[in-house]
Amino acid sequence: MKSVEWKDQVLHLIDQTLLPAELKIVECHTYQEVADSIKTMKVRGAPAIGVAAAYGLALAAIHFAGTETGKMIEELRRAKEVLARTRPTAVNLFWALARMERVWQDHRDKDVKTLKAVLENEARAIDEEDQAMNRRIGDFGKELIPAKARILTHCNAGALATAGYGTALGVIRAAQEAGKEVQVYADETRPLLQGARLTAWELMQDNIPVTLITDSMAGYLMQQGKIDLVIVGADRITANGDVANKIGTYSLAVLANYHKIPFCVAAPLSTIDMDLRTGREIPIEERHHDEIRRLGNLQLAPKDVKVYNPAFDVTPSSLIEAIITDQGIVKAPYEENLAKLFKGAGK
Ligand code: MRU
Repeated sequence: MKSVEWKDQVLHLIDQTLLPAELKIVECHTYQEVADSIKTMKVRGAPAIGVAAAYGLALAAIHFAGTETGKMIEELRRAKEVLARTRPTAVNLFWALARMERVWQDHRDKDVKTLKAVLENEARAIDEEDQAMNRRIGDFGKELIPAKARILTHCNAGALATAGYGTALGVIRAAQEAGKEVQVYADETRPLLQGARLTAWELMQDNIPVTLITDSMAGYLMQQGKIDLVIVGADRITANGDVANKIGTYSLAVLANYHKIPFCVAAPLSTIDMDLRTGREIPIEERHHDEIRRLGNLQLAPKDVKVYNPAFDVTPSSLIEAIITDQGIVKAPYEENLAKLFKGAGK
C-alpha cells in the first residue's frame, strides 16, 4: 500500500490522521485539495509532502481549461504559491515545487497539451526517484547496523512518510532483509503521535519487532544499556549538517551523546538545503495549540492554558554520528563533506 499514489490522473492518499484505527484513502482531484491534505497532515513526512506537492502541480496543469500557455503558467504559479504556503519546514516541498517550475520554464514555448504531459511525467519521476533513493539509503545505511541491534527511532520516517520503503525505517528494513536481527523502540512522539500511530503500525505490517515507549522513557532505556543506535529522518538539513526533524529529536541526540550511543540521520539529497548555512536559518512550523490541549474529543489540559507548540527542532551536526543519504554516508566535517557529496552528484 502506497501513502501517495497516482491513479487515472487522481492523487490517492492514505489519510494518516486516521491511522491506525482506520485505513482510508482520500482522493485529491484539484491542487487545492492536495494543499489542504498537506496542511491538515493527511499526507505528512518530508519526502511524501514533496511528492504530493508535485502531483498537486500536475493536477493544476491537467485541469487548466484554456488554450494559451502563458495563461496556464500564470495558473501554475498561483497553484505553486498555494502549495508552498502549507507547511514551512520540510524543504522537500519547496524542492519539488522548484523542480516542477523548471519544467514549465523549459517548455514555455510549447502548447498546453505538451506542457500538461511533461508536468505529469515530472511528478511521476519525482515519485519513482524517491522510492529508488530510499532503497539506496537502506543499502548504504544497513552497513552501520550491528548484526544484532536495538534501535530507537522518533516520529515516522517510513514508507508512510515517503513514496515508499522509508528513510530511517528503510535502513532498518534493509538491515533486516540482510539477515540482521533488529529490534525497534518507537517513541510515541507527542503531540500527534506519529510514532505510536504510524511507526508502530507500519513496522507491525512488515513483522519488524517493535516496542512502543513514551518520549520521556528514552533516557531510561539508554541508561539501562537497551539502545545500540538511534536513527531518525529529517525535514531539512543545512549546509553545515544541522538537522531539523520532529520536535523531540534534539533531546534524543543530547541523550544519545551523553550515553555514547551513535545518533544517525537518514535522508535523501532532496532534504538537504545547501542554500542555508546553519540550522538557525530553518523556519520552524508552529501548530495549533489544541494539538497539545486536546486529544481528539478529550480535553487534556485547561481549555485556555497558554501553549507553545513548535512542530520541529534542530539538532546541531556536532551531535550527529552520520548522515545516511542516497549518495553515501556523510560524516564530520559536514560542511566540507556535504559540499563534496553535492559536487560528486553533479548538483
Ligand atoms: O510533522 P510530520 O509528521 O510531517 O513530521 C515528519 C518528520 O519529522 C519526519 O521525521 C521527517 O519528515 C522525515 S520523513 C522520511
